[in-house]
Amino acid sequence: MQNVFGTLKKDHEKQRDLLKKLKATSGDSPERATLFKELKEELDNHAVAEERAVYSFMLADELTQEKAGHSIHEHKEIDHLVADLGEMELSNPNWIRKLQVLSDKVNHHLDEEEEIVFPLGNKILDAQEKAEMAKDFKFVKRQEES
Ligand SMILES: [Fe+2]
Ligand SMILES: [Fe+2]
Repeated sequence: MQNVFGTLKKDHEKQRDLLKKLKATSGDSPERATLFKELKEELDNHAVAEERAVYSFMLADELTQEKAGHSIHEHKEIDHLVADLGEMELSNPNWIRKLQVLSDKVNHHLDEEEEIVFPLGNKILDAQEKAEMAKDFKFVKRQEES
């Protein structure tokens, strides 16, 4: 049976990888434009599906509500950083510095989810629920992608 937290971690690797690739781009290049668009969509679709499939339930349990709320708050902060970066010209010499701020924030968020939030979620959900959530997560994410 699938565990939603394993599914989410696998998805996180995509974000880490995109950030790493994006940091290696320079100036107003097609690579930078394409990778940034990909990252933007990946961050957004992942967050929407994570909130709907998992955090909505964790918000309803006393043990997990605070951490789930914190993670959702960070999704909003990440949204703002992405929007700021999206408004900047790709050729702006400060672009990469701004990307570094976003990258630090996203990496912090992913590490915190994996080390603190998910282990707590693991405690309140049984195997069946975690399997269902993995399915729900994939379903919502695919919907968002189309
Ligand atoms: Fe996540
Ligand atoms: Fe998240």
